[in-house]
Amino acid sequence: MKATGLKSMDRVHLKKVTESMVALPTLPLVASRLLESIADPDSANSEEIGAVIALDPSLTARTLKLANSDFYGFPRKVGTVDLAVVVLGPDTIRDLVLSAAVFQTLDPTWRALTGLWTHSLACGVAARALADRCRYRLDGEAFAAGVLHDIGKVALCQSYPERFEAAVALVREQGISMVEAERGVLGSDHAEVGGWLAERWGLPDDLVEAIACHHRPEQARLNPELTSLIHIADSLAGLTGNSWPVEAENGSISVYAWECVQLGDAEREALLEDLVPFIRRAVEREQELFRHFRDPQEAGT
Ligand SMILES: [Fe+2]
Ligand SMILES: [Fe+2]
Repeated sequence: MKATGLKSMDRVHLKKVTESMVALPTLPLVASRLLESIADPDSANSEEIGAVIALDPSLTARTLKLANSDFYGFPRKVGTVDLAVVVLGPDTIRDLVLSAAVFQTLDPTWRALTGLWTHSLACGVAARALADRCRYRLDGEAFAAGVLHDIGKVALCQSYPERFEAAVALVREQGISMVEAERGVLGSDHAEVGGWLAERWGLPDDLVEAIACHHRPEQARLNPELTSLIHIADSLAGLTGNSWPVEAENGSISVYAWECVQLGDAEREALLEDLVPFIRRAVEREQELFRHFRDPQEAGT
């Protein structure tokens, strides 16, 4: 790899820095509670989800706003969170609130990380669709892992913007993978850093592993199926034109990951062909939902 002119970094030091990052806010209570609930597919009932959303006045207000918007066209006024959850659907609102809570925490302006936000949303949508196709039981967990898989990039680009840019430049100049470039200039990569951050946030172990191993699915031990789903979903997000910070890498999908989700050669191609247009449409719809969900003064931007 070509020299960047930056002194190489020590991985142990980087881990310490990540763990003590004061610039990165803690995960909001609502997001933690929703993440806990996704491990149990039967928990997505309207009452419980409504009770969690009600913990946060701003999310409550936005949930009601969305339920009363033209987007849904519900014939009468929706005045309570419980009814709003029924109108919007418990799965939809849980996924929406969870992603909004995480991304608003990381990027309160909704502007600095737009590209990563779209990439993450596309990965979440792809992971949920793949989970359905592969009969993975917890599609809410797959969505959450997809949305969160690249949080390490936030940590790196906010804490070491110069080095992160140098890694991006290396990817463009040398055609190497982002992970490889990050290891060269930072001594670690966004997957590993994301795993540290997820641990610090107290996320469930399966999610920590999926985040930490999404570029090396064969290293997953707790839940290789979830990690493999996220690995494939990440590539699918790239195939729909939603990559960040560089265009889709040429790296192919790991054979191990395909085998882990039990998809044979013939099924893989058909699945990709089928899912790419589906994901494009689903991402557009989710973005539209978000436009209605965001703060009123930001609507329409
Ligand atoms: Fe990644
Ligand atoms: Fe990614």
